[in-house]
Amino acid sequence: MKIPMAADTTSQDPDSDEVPDYSCEDLRAKILSERSLIIAANRAPVTFELTEAGEMSPHRGEGGLVTALLGLCQYTDATWIACAQSEADTIWTEGDVPLQNGQGSIQVHFVSPQKAAYDGYYNEIANPLLWFLQHSMWDIPRAPVISRATWEAWEQGYVVVNRLFADAIAKKVLNSPQPSLVMLQDYHLYLAARFLRSKLRAKDRPIVSHFIHIPWPGPEYWRILPPPMRYAILDGLCAVDVLGCQTRDDGMNFLRTCETYLPRSHVNYRRGRIWYRNHATHVHDFPISINVKDLRRTAESEEVHEHREDLRASLGDRRLIVRVDRVEPSKNIIRGFQAFEEMLELYPEYCDKVVFLALLAPSRMGVGEYQGYLDEIMAAGGRINAMHGSSEWEPVRVLIGENYSRAMAALQIYDVLLVNSIVDGMNLVAKEGPIVNQRNGVLILSEGTGARQQLAPGALVISPCDVYATARALHQALIMSPEERQERAERLRWIVERDHIGVWLCQQLAAIANLFPGKRV
Ligand code: G6P
Repeated sequence: MKIPMAADTTSQDPDSDEVPDYSCEDLRAKILSERSLIIAANRAPVTFELTEAGEMSPHRGEGGLVTALLGLCQYTDATWIACAQSEADTIWTEGDVPLQNGQGSIQVHFVSPQKAAYDGYYNEIANPLLWFLQHSMWDIPRAPVISRATWEAWEQGYVVVNRLFADAIAKKVLNSPQPSLVMLQDYHLYLAARFLRSKLRAKDRPIVSHFIHIPWPGPEYWRILPPPMRYAILDGLCAVDVLGCQTRDDGMNFLRTCETYLPRSHVNYRRGRIWYRNHATHVHDFPISINVKDLRRTAESEEVHEHREDLRASLGDRRLIVRVDRVEPSKNIIRGFQAFEEMLELYPEYCDKVVFLALLAPSRMGVGEYQGYLDEIMAAGGRINAMHGSSEWEPVRVLIGENYSRAMAALQIYDVLLVNSIVDGMNLVAKEGPIVNQRNGVLILSEGTGARQQLAPGALVISPCDVYATARALHQALIMSPEERQERAERLRWIVERDHIGVWLCQQLAAIANLFPGKRV
């Protein structure tokens, strides 16, 4: 199988995702021509399935992150280390997977923890403990309860899996004929960098970057964790050279957390640097984005066209409010419905004139905190339909399932896109919507999203718990003049086109290049 690459990171046409200001091409060529690249993330860019005929059938992972990182692979030998997600992944273990445009291949290497270890790492510690903490979602008087089982999940799950990653990375580093650049991803791997450093002699040590895709709350919130866990996480992250966060606030919070809880660390806020155990960690914000060109190409496909026509036919001339999310408590889906209901009550003239379409993909069903959330969503939507709907009109439509083409189609035709997450690292739907929408639709955006840092000038920004304000924002969006809609939509498009996924990558390479100030890159 071939993995599609970020084709637009190599071309130079005006519509390309190149970043001339950063001389990205130079940065990539220079940094990577001298190094092997090792990416480590919980999920691989590909996962395998064993067919009935006993053959390995590969499926490519979705998303801009995969595409952007794979775009680097043509410049050097690259390895992607991830946790096996299927039995077939475990059998595959490691091997080359060719890239789609004929520009070499990537070596995919799976680590295969025991089932119980993976369960503790993924279903107990990463999600929910860290995810809920970092999204400020614990109901502190009641949860989390850090029990013996949590400690077991930490010691025999999270620590063990992070060690497996560090071992696999160290092996690659030592076998590589040239120095390595290791790019760690996300909250699953907070301990890996420290384990890696302790396994390698100074002369073998690679450059290590770590990008955290989710929010980093302030030190008050990190008090929830027992000191040994908190210490291990901060000690681990301060073993990296470049630490990337989504927003300036996240970066500041990280520095404050280190100053508060990491003994003998010296924080320089002006330089965004932590000096700890004779090592400097540089903290930056690199807001992640989307691959604009790829997205536009996908949006033009026949499949999307068909879904769009179906949706149009089912809507008639009604206005459309859309949300596209994982079934995820931090997305605040129920308050979104409550706001819609409030709007129907405040402005009864919307009766039979508007539909709220929620496209929801099931997620992390093995995690207790997620079980039941889908039922609550369905009950909330059903109640509104019973109260306000009729045989002709279903005010709330909830469609469950992973269907990217259908989501694209809905994004093309919304009048209003609702993104009201309580807290969100970035929220890429808020960036995808304005790029593919064909109606100058209005974006309602929670102030708790990372995307707010860039998109606020074109969006209607709301406070996510304020259902009344959200209801009024929905109304404001629906009655907005065509001129204002156009102006806002153009502004959003301009921002996303400027700060696309290529910029995210280049900013990280520039920060890595800056680690060697004397050397011209
Ligand atoms: C979201 C977050 C990512 C995270 C991913 C994990 O997309 O923004 O930071 O890595 O969830 O999802 P998973 O399905 O692998 O638990």
